Amino acid sequence: MADTFDVVVIGGGPGGYVAAIRAAQLGLSTACIDDWTRAGGKAALGGTCTNVGCIPSKALLQSSENFDEAGHAFAEHGIGVAGLTLDLAQMLRRKDKVVAQNNDGITYLFKKNKVTFHLGVGAFAGGNANDGWKVNVSGPAPAELFAKHVIIATGSKPRPLAIDGKVVPVDNVRVLDNAGALAIDSVPKRLGVVGAGVIGVEMGSVWRRLGSDVTILEALPAFLGVADGAVAKEALKLFTKQGLKIATGVKITRVATGKNGVDVDYTDGAGKAQAQTFDRLIVAIGRVPHTAGLNGAAVGLRLDERGFVAVDADCRTNLANVFAIGDVVRGPMLAHKAEDEGVAVAERIAGQHGHVDLNTIPWVIYTAPEIAWVGQTEEQLKAAGVAYRAGSFPFMANGRARAMGDTSGFVKIVADEKTDRVLGVHIIGPFASELIAEGVMAMAFGASSEDIARICHAHPTLSEATKEAALAVDRRTLNL
Ligand code: FAD
Ligand code: NAI
Repeated sequence: MADTFDVVVIGGGPGGYVAAIRAAQLGLSTACIDDWTRAGGKAALGGTCTNVGCIPSKALLQSSENFDEAGHAFAEHGIGVAGLTLDLAQMLRRKDKVVAQNNDGITYLFKKNKVTFHLGVGAFAGGNANDGWKVNVSGPAPAELFAKHVIIATGSKPRPLAIDGKVVPVDNVRVLDNAGALAIDSVPKRLGVVGAGVIGVEMGSVWRRLGSDVTILEALPAFLGVADGAVAKEALKLFTKQGLKIATGVKITRVATGKNGVDVDYTDGAGKAQAQTFDRLIVAIGRVPHTAGLNGAAVGLRLDERGFVAVDADCRTNLANVFAIGDVVRGPMLAHKAEDEGVAVAERIAGQHGHVDLNTIPWVIYTAPEIAWVGQTEEQLKAAGVAYRAGSFPFMANGRARAMGDTSGFVKIVADEKTDRVLGVHIIGPFASELIAEGVMAMAFGASSEDIARICHAHPTLSEATKEAALAVDRRTLNL
């Protein structure tokens, strides 16, 4: 006999678990199925983000930055740290503890909100628009669920590296994906990273700070092509100064794993053949949607040509009352985008009007300095023929940044030439991840650069750089 719910959510990552909580808050009987387990077969709710993504990477970024600062930055403040040591095992244990706290936090939230949780793989087993959908759970406690509405939130998995059509196997010993990159048990002397995307620069930074000689091999000719050009240029300059070796325009021609390391052959940006041996190689060349196990074919679920679940602007699939959200659908693969879609879909199911504006989703790269942006870059505006004005302000001229001893980078605001409406905010510098929230709010409220310039910003704060960048749009900075 199937258990019947108003909503069954398949996947318990940031998209799925948040959708389940919101649906339950709105009075809908809700179940969530997730298959991620930790030691002992215990559920590990939170998906990629909590287990092998956002949370553990940020834990290691913080730990490694503390180590780097103690070794290099404290002396300028008059603080001596004699005999600085690295206990990598403890650093990894702390990371695992932070992950477990988050897993347990979600389990608690499910109980609090009366979301029924099923550990295992959820698969469509039939149904239709009139009668609803049947979803089977295979796992330690198999179950048959019946749902009026289904939310698919099955996420993504790493894109494999293929050379001449042959996939390079990931053993997570020598050749690592993002999970392996977060669990290296000794600092590799020579670390290779394929892909200078978000994972490449974040994980490259972690291991560089802990002592690895890191080389990042990027296929595209430009570094960080998704970011604003001036931000990407500044990032390349600063990361190179820190010691990251970044090669662009690279084509990998051979990866061979041996006893002593990984041999990588490639042609560089100038077309010259190169060969390097690394102790470990991280492959971070993007992610692909994860639909295996879902059995969507049984009910005729439509995927697009790239394998994402096809959805409209409201996250509706081709099946009545079946929605899909997060990494498994179009749009940026970011946890907060997945969460917002989860909330919006739950509200739509409850008869409300959820909405997600994909144009105001912020991006953050948690390197040092951090990089964050929202809206459009100057390059995108030029390509679209939009007339705009841009204003920048460097942290070098910001009192708080000077006091912190962290003056690299700048804030840039781009605004429509005629209306002055903010079209994009681009930051590289200290706490860019926090500062970007003001830019997101400005864009969500349709603010002008003058609006930001007229808001009182506390002194001395890094946020004054945002105000000054807004003043710079009108060529009237006060402190530069
Ligand atoms: P997922 O988090 O992938 O969750 C999907 C869940 O569904 C998983 O638990 C999966 O096992 C489960 N599942 C799949 N199929 C089934 C099935 N049939 N039945 C039951 N369960 C199933 N984003 C940010 O915004 N900020 C960051 O700092 C950040 N850092 C990242 C760092 C790394 C190293 C990586 C890899 C990613 C990072 N991301 C970050 C991206 C972020 O992790 C994803 O965008 C986010 O996890 C997507 O959420 P989701 O709910 O769509 O999918
Ligand atoms: P990515 O898309 O950010 O970067 C992949 C890079 O690999 C690109 O620059 C691409 O040109 C390059 N590449 C592709 N094929 C290649 C090849 N054969 N050889 C060399 N380079 C190649 O993907 P990444 O870093 O794997 O991260 C996946 C996603 O996870 C991100 O796009 C992002 O959505 C999410 N993420 C978000 C984070 C954050 O918000 N701070 C942190 C980490 C990941």
